[in-house]
Amino acid sequence: MKILVTGGTGYIGSHTVVELQHAGFEVVIVDNLSNSSADITDAIEEITGKKPVLEVFDLIDKKKTSDFFNRHNDVKGVIHFAAKKAVGESVEKPLLYYSNNIESLVNVMEGMIQNNVKHFVFSSSCTVYGQPDKLPVSETAPIKKAESPYGNTKQIAEEILIDTAKIAAIKVIALRYFNPIGAHESALIGELPIGIPDNLLPYVTQTALGIREKLSVFGDDYNTPDGTAIRDYIHVVDLAKAHVIAIERMIENKMKKNFEVFNLGTGNGYSVLEVINSFEKVSGLKLNYQIVHRREGDVEQVWADPSFSNIELGWKAEKGIDEMTESAWKWEQAYRNKIKDKR
Ligand code: UD1
Repeated sequence: MKILVTGGTGYIGSHTVVELQHAGFEVVIVDNLSNSSADITDAIEEITGKKPVLEVFDLIDKKKTSDFFNRHNDVKGVIHFAAKKAVGESVEKPLLYYSNNIESLVNVMEGMIQNNVKHFVFSSSCTVYGQPDKLPVSETAPIKKAESPYGNTKQIAEEILIDTAKIAAIKVIALRYFNPIGAHESALIGELPIGIPDNLLPYVTQTALGIREKLSVFGDDYNTPDGTAIRDYIHVVDLAKAHVIAIERMIENKMKKNFEVFNLGTGNGYSVLEVINSFEKVSGLKLNYQIVHRREGDVEQVWADPSFSNIELGWKAEKGIDEMTESAWKWEQAYRNKIKDKR
């Protein structure tokens, strides 16, 4: 059974392609390679024994997207990762985010309707909850006004999907990710931000290797036990597996509604300092960091109530924080060694 994975050479996308292939799905990737590279498909082949097909184009091109669906009329489902995701950049360039993230979604949905593709998994985010009033946060928590254009694209996308699932024969599962970190155990794929990382873990691992001088910890005056902000970090492989379960749920007609939402988190919150401690423990290194002022737009603390996903999907995150930081560290070192050898 063929599944289109948009953004399939990216961080979460590539891990999901691996899990889909392990589960026996045939995968075709569409990616514009704006934040990834084509040789990820070689790494996927090394892990799974099969190289996924990759088509390089931009999904904001309506014609190319429509042509793609015409050519691949045996696609049974779509997992849509392709989107821009840097919160700060979205504040600087809101129209880029609205046009990129929303137009591409609309084009994919139109292509699906044209070609009678019925199953759609969307990569949403816990950012839709903002700072929740109650913790842990469940799927029924109110959606708060988005803090950034990026966050707003996730909210708008969910609304587009709700409206579309009402009128078309398309079923949708929106997966709201908490904070994915870590890497595949092979250390052949992992998170690879272009330029200076925005997210915590790549900044930590790059600092440990001396690529960045010092990690800035954004704020230690939050109302949390150690004063630093708390997130629900989830291993990217656990996250990837949930996508396979979601697509199987749709194909096997197990959905209870045409639009379903699931939290993907562990249910455990860790502070920035706890993540640093875990990294120092697994690496045996001392990390160079300093406390600085809060980062604008950051929420204080958020972690998931994953019980609905646990029960309804039969999915549970299995890997703990040390496995997350250790795999991220293994990946960063393996990747830097590989590019050094290539030089
Ligand atoms: C943010 C978005 C999330 C998005 C994700 C992807 C919000 C509220 N969350 O997650 O929706 O999917 O980015 O890019 O918009 N930190 C440091 N120093 C650093 C980097 C981070 O202390 O150099 C801290 C942050 O303040 C935060 C935690 O580490 O408390 C995690 O930050 P990050 O990895 O950037 O993820 P979020 O901001 O939670």
